[in-house]
Amino acid sequence: MHDDRGASKIMLLGKKDIIGLDIGSKHIKAVQLRENKGSHRLERLGITTLQPELIVDGSILDSTHVVNAIKELVSNTDIKAKDVTLSVSGHSSVIIKRVSLPQMTEDELDEQIQFEAEQYIPFDIEDVSLDFQILGPAEEENMMDVLIVAVKKDKINEYVTVVREAGLNPVIVDVDAFALENMYELNYDVKEGENIALVNIGASMININILKGGISVFTRDSSVGGNLLTEALQKEFTVSYTNAEKLKQKESVEGVSEENVKVALNTAFEDIITEISRSFDYFRDTTNYENVDEIILSGGVALTNDFAQSLSERAGVNVNVAEPFKNVNVPETFDKEYLKKVSPLVSVAVGLAMRRVGDK
Ligand SMILES: Nc1ncnc2c1ncn2[C@@H]1O[C@H](COP(=O)(O)OP(=O)(O)OP(=O)(O)O)[C@@H](O)[C@H]1O
Ligand SMILES: [Mg+2]
Repeated sequence: MHDDRGASKIMLLGKKDIIGLDIGSKHIKAVQLRENKGSHRLERLGITTLQPELIVDGSILDSTHVVNAIKELVSNTDIKAKDVTLSVSGHSSVIIKRVSLPQMTEDELDEQIQFEAEQYIPFDIEDVSLDFQILGPAEEENMMDVLIVAVKKDKINEYVTVVREAGLNPVIVDVDAFALENMYELNYDVKEGENIALVNIGASMININILKGGISVFTRDSSVGGNLLTEALQKEFTVSYTNAEKLKQKESVEGVSEENVKVALNTAFEDIITEISRSFDYFRDTTNYENVDEIILSGGVALTNDFAQSLSERAGVNVNVAEPFKNVNVPETFDKEYLKKVSPLVSVAVGLAMRRVGDK
């Protein structure tokens, strides 16, 4: 009796589960975690594939199909929670800047953020939602380092609207780069003095967040991704989008040899790897010529045969594929083999699922 009451009390006071919903152009992923005394347990996990061209360059072109896909995903995954953390990304709608500002309190900055941010944000300040985080004192006296995040309001509206229309309740809007960081903090120990690049390569986008001793010092989104590989295969073997996607997943397609696919993919990797190396060059230029020590690789492209190894060789950096459930209790009811196979796809969704209303 006493125990029962205790349990229900904990339930009532416990923070509500939130669905981490990562709406990508190729896959929508949903993850629900249950937090208990600092440990996390996997409650729900679902992935659904979108037809091509529903979301292009981060814009939802066909919201009806996207809404239906979310509804289906929620129902197939037996998700009962309603609250959602979603994310947006892309250099044309998200700006993350690390700046030095005169020292002030959080409340003071809250009042002045619009004015302070104006000079750093290349968008009309009226068109963006602003958020900030005070990182600590700057090198210069009486100054402090602040992370400013600006996201175009119309982008937020676009994504919030489809989530609402799917019958869910969006409570937090995050950005992919920070979701990756949350996933990392959940599963990895901070490596002092090391620069760890969290790299997420989806179908149409690369998100990079470089952590120095566990603190984010560089973020960048690029509009390049696995679609490049699909297109290269389509051209090389004159096959449809569907067949090219099959080839990427090592399924056979009549008239195309596995060996030739391997060669074509390895050539096509170049554009993606060049883009990542370019970001690392920017990082080097904005720091004191610091190098990236390790890449934690997420996103569907991490699953493409040979890619991780190729990236490691060509970028000259150790690459490890992300393990978003390394530190998560996974009940027996989940198929461990399947989970292992898809886990790099859900890094962002896991990071989103960790957010709770009121945290920072
Ligand atoms: N098993 C696999 N083998 C090879 N490639 C795969 C595999 N699974 C997914 N991919 C590729 O990964 C990409 C999709 O990855 P992901 O789901 O991370 O993208 P997304 O989040 O939907 O896209 P966006 O870039 O718009 O955020 C596609 O290019 C797809 O072909
Ligand atoms: Mg994505």
